[in-house]
Amino acid sequence: MTMMELISGFSKKSKEEKIEWLVATYLSNDPNASETLKQYWNNDQQLQKLHDGFIENTISNYYLPFAIAPNFLINNRNYTIPMVIEESSVVAAASYSAKFWLKKGGFSSEVISTTKNGQVHINFYGNDATIQQFFSEIKPLLFKSISSIEKNMKKRGGGLIDITLKNSTKTLKGYYQLHCTFETNDAMGANFINTCLEAIAKTFELEALKYDAFSNNNTTPEVVISILSNYVPECLVKAQVQCPVEDLTAEGVDGKLFAEKIVRTIAIANSEIRRAVTHNKGIMNGIDAVVIATGNDFRSIEAGVHAFASKSGKYKSLTNASIENGIFTYSIEIPMALGTVGGMTGLHPLAKLGLSILQNPSAKELMQIIAVAGLAQNFAALRALTTTGIQKGHMKMHLKNILTQLNATASEIEKTVQYFEEHTVSHSDVVNYVTELRK
Ligand code: MEV
Repeated sequence: MTMMELISGFSKKSKEEKIEWLVATYLSNDPNASETLKQYWNNDQQLQKLHDGFIENTISNYYLPFAIAPNFLINNRNYTIPMVIEESSVVAAASYSAKFWLKKGGFSSEVISTTKNGQVHINFYGNDATIQQFFSEIKPLLFKSISSIEKNMKKRGGGLIDITLKNSTKTLKGYYQLHCTFETNDAMGANFINTCLEAIAKTFELEALKYDAFSNNNTTPEVVISILSNYVPECLVKAQVQCPVEDLTAEGVDGKLFAEKIVRTIAIANSEIRRAVTHNKGIMNGIDAVVIATGNDFRSIEAGVHAFASKSGKYKSLTNASIENGIFTYSIEIPMALGTVGGMTGLHPLAKLGLSILQNPSAKELMQIIAVAGLAQNFAALRALTTTGIQKGHMKMHLKNILTQLNATASEIEKTVQYFEEHTVSHSDVVNYVTELRK
Protein backbone atom coordinates (compact mmCIF):
# COMPACT_ATOMS: atom_id res chain seq x y z
CA MET A 1 0.00 0.00 0.00
CA THR A 2 1.39 3.42 -0.89
CA MET A 3 1.01 6.42 1.34
CA MET A 4 -1.06 9.23 -0.16
CA GLU A 5 1.18 12.24 -0.69
CA LEU A 6 -0.20 15.46 0.75
CA ILE A 7 -0.48 18.31 -1.73
CA SER A 8 -0.01 21.62 0.00
CA GLY A 9 -0.65 25.14 -1.29
CA PHE A 10 -3.02 23.64 -3.86
CA SER A 11 -5.52 26.49 -3.76
CA LYS A 12 -2.76 28.93 -4.74
CA LYS A 13 -1.93 27.08 -7.93
CA SER A 14 -3.30 28.42 -11.23
CA LYS A 15 -6.18 26.65 -12.92
CA GLU A 16 -3.78 25.19 -15.51
CA GLU A 17 -1.50 23.90 -12.78
CA LYS A 18 -4.40 22.33 -10.91
CA ILE A 19 -5.49 20.49 -14.06
CA GLU A 20 -1.90 19.39 -14.77
CA TRP A 21 -1.62 17.97 -11.25
CA LEU A 22 -5.00 16.25 -11.50
CA VAL A 23 -4.23 14.68 -14.87
CA ALA A 24 -0.77 13.53 -13.80
CA THR A 25 -2.07 12.10 -10.52
CA TYR A 26 -5.36 10.47 -11.48
CA LEU A 27 -6.07 10.72 -15.19
CA SER A 28 -2.81 9.78 -16.91
CA ASN A 29 -4.56 7.07 -18.95
CA ASP A 30 -7.10 9.53 -20.37
CA PRO A 31 -5.41 11.55 -23.15
CA ASN A 32 -8.48 13.80 -23.49
CA ALA A 33 -8.98 14.67 -19.81
CA SER A 34 -7.38 18.10 -19.92
CA GLU A 35 -9.16 18.99 -23.16
CA THR A 36 -12.53 17.82 -21.79
CA LEU A 37 -12.17 20.11 -18.80
CA LYS A 38 -10.99 23.06 -20.86
CA GLN A 39 -13.64 22.83 -23.55
CA TYR A 40 -16.17 23.90 -20.93
CA TRP A 41 -14.27 27.05 -20.04
CA ASN A 42 -16.12 30.16 -21.09
CA ASN A 43 -14.45 32.34 -23.72
CA ASP A 44 -15.70 35.41 -21.92
CA GLN A 45 -12.96 35.83 -19.32
CA GLN A 46 -15.02 38.07 -17.06
CA LEU A 47 -17.81 35.52 -16.94
CA GLN A 48 -15.37 32.70 -16.32
CA LYS A 49 -13.77 34.66 -13.51
CA LEU A 50 -17.18 35.13 -11.92
CA HIS A 51 -17.84 31.38 -11.99
CA ASP A 52 -14.33 30.55 -10.80
CA GLY A 53 -14.95 32.74 -7.80
CA PHE A 54 -18.12 30.99 -6.59
CA ILE A 55 -16.19 28.11 -5.06
CA GLU A 56 -12.61 27.04 -4.37
CA ASN A 57 -10.34 25.12 -6.74
CA THR A 58 -12.60 25.56 -9.80
CA ILE A 59 -11.15 23.77 -12.81
CA SER A 60 -14.09 23.84 -15.21
CA ASN A 61 -17.82 24.49 -15.53
CA TYR A 62 -20.49 21.80 -15.35
CA TYR A 63 -23.40 22.53 -17.65
CA LEU A 64 -27.01 21.62 -16.94
CA PRO A 65 -29.83 22.38 -19.38
CA PHE A 66 -31.75 25.61 -18.69
CA ALA A 67 -35.30 25.15 -20.04
CA ILE A 68 -38.66 26.88 -19.80
CA ALA A 69 -42.17 25.53 -19.16
CA PRO A 70 -44.83 27.94 -20.47
CA ASN A 71 -48.60 28.24 -19.88
CA PHE A 72 -48.67 28.28 -16.08
CA LEU A 73 -51.67 30.19 -14.75
CA ILE A 74 -51.11 30.92 -11.05
CA ASN A 75 -53.50 33.14 -9.10
CA ASN A 76 -54.81 34.38 -12.48
CA ARG A 77 -51.36 35.43 -13.66
CA ASN A 78 -49.52 33.87 -16.55
CA TYR A 79 -46.03 32.50 -16.00
CA THR A 80 -43.34 30.79 -17.99
CA ILE A 81 -41.26 28.86 -15.48
CA PRO A 82 -37.48 28.47 -15.88
CA MET A 83 -36.15 25.01 -14.99
CA VAL A 84 -32.59 23.73 -14.65
CA ILE A 85 -32.45 19.94 -14.62
CA GLU A 86 -30.70 17.08 -16.38
CA GLU A 87 -33.53 14.52 -16.15
CA SER A 88 -35.56 13.99 -19.30
CA SER A 89 -39.36 14.33 -19.18
CA VAL A 90 -39.43 16.76 -16.21
CA VAL A 91 -39.91 19.89 -18.31
CA ALA A 92 -42.32 18.08 -20.65
CA ALA A 93 -44.29 16.97 -17.57
CA ALA A 94 -44.42 20.52 -16.19
CA SER A 95 -45.59 21.89 -19.55
CA TYR A 96 -48.22 19.17 -19.81
CA SER A 97 -49.66 19.96 -16.36
CA ALA A 98 -49.58 23.71 -16.99
CA LYS A 99 -51.62 23.30 -20.17
CA PHE A 100 -53.98 20.79 -18.60
CA TRP A 101 -54.86 23.09 -15.68
CA LEU A 102 -54.81 26.31 -17.73
CA LYS A 103 -58.10 25.25 -19.28
CA LYS A 104 -59.57 24.67 -15.82
CA GLY A 105 -58.73 28.05 -14.27
CA GLY A 106 -55.12 27.32 -13.40
CA PHE A 107 -53.48 26.95 -10.02
CA SER A 108 -54.14 28.92 -6.85
CA SER A 109 -51.42 29.40 -4.32
CA GLU A 110 -51.04 31.18 -0.98
CA VAL A 111 -48.24 31.81 1.46
CA ILE A 112 -49.31 30.68 4.92
CA SER A 113 -46.34 31.98 6.93
CA THR A 114 -42.89 33.43 6.29
CA THR A 115 -40.67 33.23 9.36
CA LYS A 116 -37.31 31.51 9.50
CA ASN A 117 -35.42 30.36 12.55
CA GLY A 118 -32.06 29.54 14.04
CA GLN A 119 -30.72 28.27 17.35
CA VAL A 120 -27.90 28.87 19.76
CA HIS A 121 -27.38 25.38 21.16
CA ILE A 122 -26.29 25.41 24.78
CA ASN A 123 -24.95 23.05 27.47
CA PHE A 124 -26.21 23.79 30.96
CA TYR A 125 -26.28 21.31 33.82
CA GLY A 126 -27.45 23.65 36.59
CA ASN A 127 -30.76 24.75 37.99
CA ASP A 128 -33.47 25.47 35.41
CA ALA A 129 -34.89 28.42 37.36
CA THR A 130 -31.44 30.08 37.41
CA ILE A 131 -30.93 29.98 33.63
CA GLN A 132 -34.55 31.06 33.01
CA GLN A 133 -34.04 34.05 35.35
CA PHE A 134 -30.71 34.87 33.69
CA PHE A 135 -32.33 34.72 30.24
CA SER A 136 -35.19 37.03 31.19
CA GLU A 137 -32.66 39.56 32.54
CA ILE A 138 -30.36 39.54 29.50
CA LYS A 139 -32.98 39.16 26.72
CA PRO A 140 -32.97 42.91 25.96
CA LEU A 141 -29.16 42.78 25.71
CA LEU A 142 -29.36 39.91 23.25
CA PHE A 143 -31.65 42.01 21.05
CA LYS A 144 -29.31 44.97 21.44
CA SER A 145 -26.30 42.89 20.40
CA ILE A 146 -27.65 42.64 16.84
CA SER A 147 -29.08 46.14 16.44
CA SER A 148 -26.44 47.25 13.94
CA ILE A 149 -26.58 43.92 12.05
CA GLU A 150 -30.36 44.07 11.58
CA LYS A 151 -30.56 47.79 10.82
CA ASN A 152 -31.07 47.39 7.06
CA MET A 153 -33.29 44.34 7.42
CA LYS A 154 -35.46 46.29 9.89
CA LYS A 155 -35.84 49.15 7.40
CA ARG A 156 -37.41 46.59 5.04
CA GLY A 157 -39.78 45.39 7.77
CA GLY A 158 -37.76 42.33 8.81
CA GLY A 159 -35.29 41.38 11.51
CA LEU A 160 -35.23 39.36 14.69
CA ILE A 161 -38.78 38.76 15.90
CA ASP A 162 -38.26 36.81 19.10
CA ILE A 163 -35.87 34.78 21.22
CA THR A 164 -37.07 32.05 23.55
CA LEU A 165 -35.03 29.88 25.88
CA LYS A 166 -36.03 26.25 25.45
CA ASN A 167 -35.31 23.62 28.01
CA SER A 168 -34.68 20.47 25.97
CA THR A 169 -33.19 18.44 28.83
CA LYS A 170 -36.00 15.87 28.53
CA THR A 171 -34.61 14.72 25.20
CA LEU A 172 -30.92 15.35 25.99
CA LYS A 173 -29.39 15.88 29.43
CA GLY A 174 -28.07 19.42 29.87
CA TYR A 175 -29.37 20.65 26.49
CA TYR A 176 -30.87 24.12 26.21
CA GLN A 177 -31.32 26.35 23.20
CA LEU A 178 -32.03 29.94 22.33
CA HIS A 179 -34.65 29.57 19.63
CA CYS A 180 -34.59 32.71 17.47
CA THR A 181 -37.30 33.65 14.98
CA PHE A 182 -36.54 35.95 12.02
CA GLU A 183 -38.32 37.68 9.17
CA THR A 184 -35.98 38.14 6.21
CA ASN A 185 -38.44 39.39 3.56
CA ASP A 186 -37.11 38.81 0.03
CA ALA A 187 -33.73 37.50 1.19
CA MET A 188 -33.21 33.82 1.94
CA GLY A 189 -31.39 35.30 4.92
CA ALA A 190 -28.91 32.54 5.76
CA ASN A 191 -25.96 34.92 6.20
CA PHE A 192 -28.06 37.43 8.08
CA ILE A 193 -29.45 34.82 10.46
CA ASN A 194 -26.06 33.20 11.11
CA THR A 195 -24.40 36.58 11.78
CA CYS A 196 -27.18 37.45 14.23
CA LEU A 197 -26.94 34.08 15.98
CA GLU A 198 -23.18 34.34 16.44
CA ALA A 199 -23.56 37.82 17.94
CA ILE A 200 -26.36 36.64 20.23
CA ALA A 201 -24.27 33.64 21.33
CA LYS A 202 -21.28 35.84 22.13
CA THR A 203 -23.35 38.20 24.28
CA PHE A 204 -25.03 35.26 25.98
CA GLU A 205 -21.67 33.71 26.91
CA LEU A 206 -20.11 36.98 28.06
CA GLU A 207 -23.10 37.82 30.26
CA ALA A 208 -23.18 34.29 31.67
CA LEU A 209 -19.57 34.63 32.80
CA LYS A 210 -20.53 37.74 34.78
CA TYR A 211 -23.64 36.23 36.37
CA ASP A 212 -23.12 35.51 40.06
CA ALA A 213 -25.76 32.80 40.41
CA PHE A 214 -23.86 30.69 37.85
CA SER A 215 -20.39 31.20 39.35
CA ASN A 216 -21.72 30.59 42.87
CA ASN A 217 -22.97 27.19 41.73
CA ASN A 218 -20.07 26.41 39.39
CA THR A 219 -22.50 25.82 36.53
CA THR A 220 -22.05 28.39 33.77
CA PRO A 221 -23.87 27.69 30.49
CA GLU A 222 -21.70 27.10 27.43
CA VAL A 223 -22.54 27.67 23.78
CA VAL A 224 -21.97 24.55 21.65
CA ILE A 225 -22.91 25.87 18.20
CA SER A 226 -24.97 28.69 16.65
CA ILE A 227 -26.59 28.12 13.26
CA LEU A 228 -29.79 28.67 11.31
CA SER A 229 -32.21 25.80 10.86
CA ASN A 230 -33.13 24.51 7.43
CA TYR A 231 -36.31 23.15 8.97
CA VAL A 232 -38.75 26.00 8.33
CA PRO A 233 -42.30 24.78 9.00
CA GLU A 234 -43.24 28.39 9.78
CA CYS A 235 -42.26 29.44 6.25
CA LEU A 236 -45.05 27.60 4.53
CA VAL A 237 -46.79 27.75 1.16
CA LYS A 238 -49.81 25.96 -0.25
CA ALA A 239 -50.78 25.41 -3.90
CA GLN A 240 -54.00 23.88 -5.13
CA VAL A 241 -56.11 22.94 -8.14
CA GLN A 242 -59.76 22.01 -8.15
CA CYS A 243 -62.32 20.86 -10.71
CA PRO A 244 -65.37 18.61 -11.15
CA VAL A 245 -64.10 15.03 -11.60
CA GLU A 246 -65.58 14.72 -15.07
CA ASP A 247 -63.35 17.62 -16.22
CA LEU A 248 -60.34 15.40 -15.60
CA THR A 249 -61.39 13.24 -18.53
CA ALA A 250 -58.68 13.49 -21.19
CA GLU A 251 -56.98 11.33 -23.79
CA GLY A 252 -59.49 8.53 -23.32
CA VAL A 253 -59.01 8.40 -19.54
CA ASP A 254 -62.20 8.67 -17.49
CA GLY A 255 -62.02 11.65 -15.13
CA LYS A 256 -63.72 10.01 -12.13
CA LEU A 257 -61.54 6.92 -12.39
CA PHE A 258 -58.42 9.05 -12.73
CA ALA A 259 -59.34 11.19 -9.70
CA GLU A 260 -59.92 8.04 -7.65
CA LYS A 261 -56.56 6.68 -8.75
CA ILE A 262 -54.78 9.87 -7.64
CA VAL A 263 -56.49 9.73 -4.23
CA ARG A 264 -55.56 6.05 -3.92
CA THR A 265 -51.95 6.63 -5.02
CA ILE A 266 -51.54 9.29 -2.32
CA ALA A 267 -53.10 6.96 0.26
CA ILE A 268 -50.55 4.31 -0.75
CA ALA A 269 -47.69 6.82 -0.36
CA ASN A 270 -49.03 7.75 3.08
CA SER A 271 -49.01 4.14 4.17
CA GLU A 272 -45.79 2.94 2.49
CA ILE A 273 -42.53 4.87 2.87
CA ARG A 274 -40.96 3.19 -0.16
CA ARG A 275 -43.65 4.72 -2.37
CA ALA A 276 -43.75 8.02 -0.45
CA VAL A 277 -40.05 8.72 -1.05
CA THR A 278 -40.40 8.17 -4.81
CA HIS A 279 -43.65 10.14 -4.90
CA ASN A 280 -41.94 13.07 -3.16
CA LYS A 281 -38.80 12.69 -5.29
CA GLY A 282 -40.99 13.34 -8.34
CA ILE A 283 -42.33 16.49 -6.68
CA MET A 284 -38.76 17.63 -5.98
CA ASN A 285 -37.92 17.16 -9.68
CA GLY A 286 -40.12 20.18 -10.32
CA ILE A 287 -39.20 22.12 -7.20
CA ASP A 288 -35.41 21.76 -7.41
CA ALA A 289 -35.37 22.66 -11.09
CA VAL A 290 -36.93 26.07 -10.38
CA VAL A 291 -34.98 26.54 -7.15
CA ILE A 292 -31.73 26.11 -9.12
CA ALA A 293 -32.90 28.22 -12.08
CA THR A 294 -33.54 31.10 -9.67
CA GLY A 295 -30.21 30.82 -7.85
CA ASN A 296 -31.57 29.33 -4.64
CA ASP A 297 -30.12 26.61 -2.41
CA PHE A 298 -31.77 23.32 -3.34
CA ARG A 299 -30.00 21.37 -0.58
CA SER A 300 -31.65 23.45 2.11
CA ILE A 301 -35.05 23.10 0.44
CA GLU A 302 -34.59 19.32 0.06
CA ALA A 303 -33.54 18.85 3.70
CA GLY A 304 -36.42 20.98 5.00
CA VAL A 305 -39.07 19.49 2.75
CA HIS A 306 -38.27 15.87 3.61
CA ALA A 307 -38.17 16.62 7.34
CA PHE A 308 -41.58 18.28 6.90
CA ALA A 309 -42.88 15.16 5.15
CA SER A 310 -42.06 13.29 8.38
CA LYS A 311 -43.60 15.82 10.77
CA SER A 312 -46.31 13.39 11.93
CA GLY A 313 -43.62 10.88 12.93
CA LYS A 314 -44.16 9.01 9.66
CA TYR A 315 -42.74 9.98 6.26
CA LYS A 316 -45.73 10.84 4.05
CA SER A 317 -46.78 12.32 0.71
CA LEU A 318 -46.32 16.08 0.32
CA THR A 319 -49.44 16.24 -1.84
CA ASN A 320 -53.04 15.64 -0.80
CA ALA A 321 -56.11 14.81 -2.85
CA SER A 322 -59.79 14.37 -2.15
CA ILE A 323 -63.10 13.97 -3.98
CA GLU A 324 -66.10 15.59 -2.33
CA ASN A 325 -69.49 16.03 -3.97
CA GLY A 326 -67.92 15.29 -7.33
CA ILE A 327 -65.21 17.95 -6.89
CA PHE A 328 -61.59 16.87 -7.10
CA THR A 329 -59.24 18.91 -4.88
CA TYR A 330 -55.52 18.39 -5.18
CA SER A 331 -52.93 20.33 -3.19
CA ILE A 332 -49.42 20.58 -1.82
CA GLU A 333 -48.17 22.23 1.36
CA ILE A 334 -44.44 22.72 1.77
CA PRO A 335 -41.96 24.77 3.75
CA MET A 336 -39.52 26.81 1.69
CA ALA A 337 -36.91 29.41 2.66
CA LEU A 338 -36.19 31.23 -0.60
CA GLY A 339 -34.65 34.48 -1.70
CA THR A 340 -35.16 36.75 -4.68
CA VAL A 341 -32.44 39.16 -3.57
CA GLY A 342 -28.94 38.49 -2.30
CA GLY A 343 -26.74 35.42 -2.68
CA MET A 344 -26.58 33.76 -6.08
CA THR A 345 -29.79 35.48 -7.21
CA GLY A 346 -27.85 38.66 -7.92
CA LEU A 347 -24.54 37.10 -8.93
CA HIS A 348 -25.27 34.33 -11.42
CA PRO A 349 -26.39 35.89 -14.73
CA LEU A 350 -28.69 32.95 -15.49
CA ALA A 351 -30.26 33.04 -12.02
CA LYS A 352 -30.96 36.75 -12.56
CA LEU A 353 -32.47 35.89 -15.93
CA GLY A 354 -34.53 33.10 -14.35
CA LEU A 355 -36.02 35.64 -11.98
CA SER A 356 -36.61 38.10 -14.84
CA ILE A 357 -38.49 35.41 -16.76
CA LEU A 358 -40.75 35.18 -13.70
CA GLN A 359 -41.15 38.99 -13.83
CA ASN A 360 -38.92 39.50 -10.77
CA PRO A 361 -41.16 37.99 -8.12
CA SER A 362 -41.00 38.70 -4.39
CA ALA A 363 -39.84 35.76 -2.25
CA LYS A 364 -43.50 35.12 -1.40
CA GLU A 365 -44.46 34.96 -5.09
CA LEU A 366 -41.53 32.68 -5.80
CA MET A 367 -42.68 30.35 -3.01
CA GLN A 368 -46.08 30.18 -4.70
CA ILE A 369 -44.61 29.53 -8.14
CA ILE A 370 -42.31 26.79 -6.87
CA ALA A 371 -45.05 25.07 -4.88
CA VAL A 372 -47.08 25.01 -8.10
CA ALA A 373 -44.11 23.52 -9.99
CA GLY A 374 -44.02 20.71 -7.40
CA LEU A 375 -47.76 20.05 -7.61
CA ALA A 376 -47.69 20.15 -11.41
CA GLN A 377 -44.84 17.67 -11.51
CA ASN A 378 -46.63 15.26 -9.18
CA PHE A 379 -49.79 15.55 -11.26
CA ALA A 380 -47.99 14.69 -14.49
CA ALA A 381 -46.14 11.78 -12.84
CA LEU A 382 -49.38 10.35 -11.42
CA ARG A 383 -51.12 10.87 -14.74
CA ALA A 384 -48.42 8.88 -16.53
CA LEU A 385 -48.08 6.24 -13.81
CA THR A 386 -51.82 5.55 -13.62
CA THR A 387 -52.23 5.39 -17.41
CA THR A 388 -49.40 4.51 -19.81
CA GLY A 389 -46.58 4.24 -17.25
CA ILE A 390 -43.63 6.62 -17.29
CA GLN A 391 -41.30 4.58 -19.45
CA LYS A 392 -42.96 5.53 -22.73
CA GLY A 393 -42.10 9.23 -22.32
CA HIS A 394 -38.75 8.57 -20.69
CA MET A 395 -37.64 6.19 -23.41
CA LYS A 396 -38.61 8.63 -26.15
CA MET A 397 -36.15 11.13 -24.66
CA HIS A 398 -33.65 8.35 -23.99
CA LEU A 399 -33.85 7.36 -27.65
CA LYS A 400 -33.05 10.92 -28.69
CA ASN A 401 -30.01 10.95 -26.37
CA ILE A 402 -28.72 7.65 -27.74
CA LEU A 403 -29.13 8.93 -31.31
CA THR A 404 -27.16 12.06 -30.40
CA GLN A 405 -24.41 9.89 -28.91
CA LEU A 406 -24.31 7.87 -32.14
CA ASN A 407 -24.12 11.05 -34.26
CA ALA A 408 -27.16 9.84 -36.19
CA THR A 409 -28.06 11.61 -39.43
CA ALA A 410 -31.50 13.15 -40.00
CA SER A 411 -32.60 10.17 -42.06
CA GLU A 412 -31.29 7.69 -39.48
CA ILE A 413 -33.16 9.59 -36.75
CA GLU A 414 -36.39 9.54 -38.75
CA LYS A 415 -36.18 5.81 -39.45
CA THR A 416 -35.15 4.90 -35.91
CA VAL A 417 -37.85 6.99 -34.25
CA GLN A 418 -40.44 5.45 -36.54
CA TYR A 419 -39.21 1.94 -35.79
CA PHE A 420 -39.23 2.45 -32.02
CA GLU A 421 -42.80 3.78 -32.05
CA GLU A 422 -43.69 0.11 -32.24
CA HIS A 423 -40.76 -1.40 -30.31
CA THR A 424 -39.41 -1.13 -26.78
CA VAL A 425 -36.39 1.17 -26.50
CA SER A 426 -33.22 -0.26 -25.00
CA HIS A 427 -29.70 1.09 -25.49
CA SER A 428 -28.41 -2.05 -27.18
CA ASP A 429 -31.46 -2.40 -29.47
CA VAL A 430 -31.05 1.20 -30.66
CA VAL A 431 -27.32 0.73 -31.28
CA ASN A 432 -28.00 -2.51 -33.17
CA TYR A 433 -30.76 -0.91 -35.24
CA VAL A 434 -28.59 2.08 -36.26
CA THR A 435 -25.63 -0.24 -36.98
CA GLU A 436 -27.88 -2.27 -39.30
CA LEU A 437 -29.06 0.90 -41.03
CA ARG A 438 -25.47 1.90 -41.65
CA LYS A 439 -24.51 -1.38 -43.29
C1 MEV B 1 -38.89 10.07 -11.61
O1 MEV B 1 -37.83 10.98 -11.53
C2 MEV B 1 -40.04 10.54 -10.75
C3 MEV B 1 -41.19 9.54 -10.57
O2 MEV B 1 -40.68 8.28 -10.15
C4 MEV B 1 -42.13 10.12 -9.54
C5 MEV B 1 -43.22 9.17 -9.08
O3 MEV B 1 -43.03 7.95 -9.12
O4 MEV B 1 -44.25 9.70 -8.62
C6 MEV B 1 -41.91 9.31 -11.88
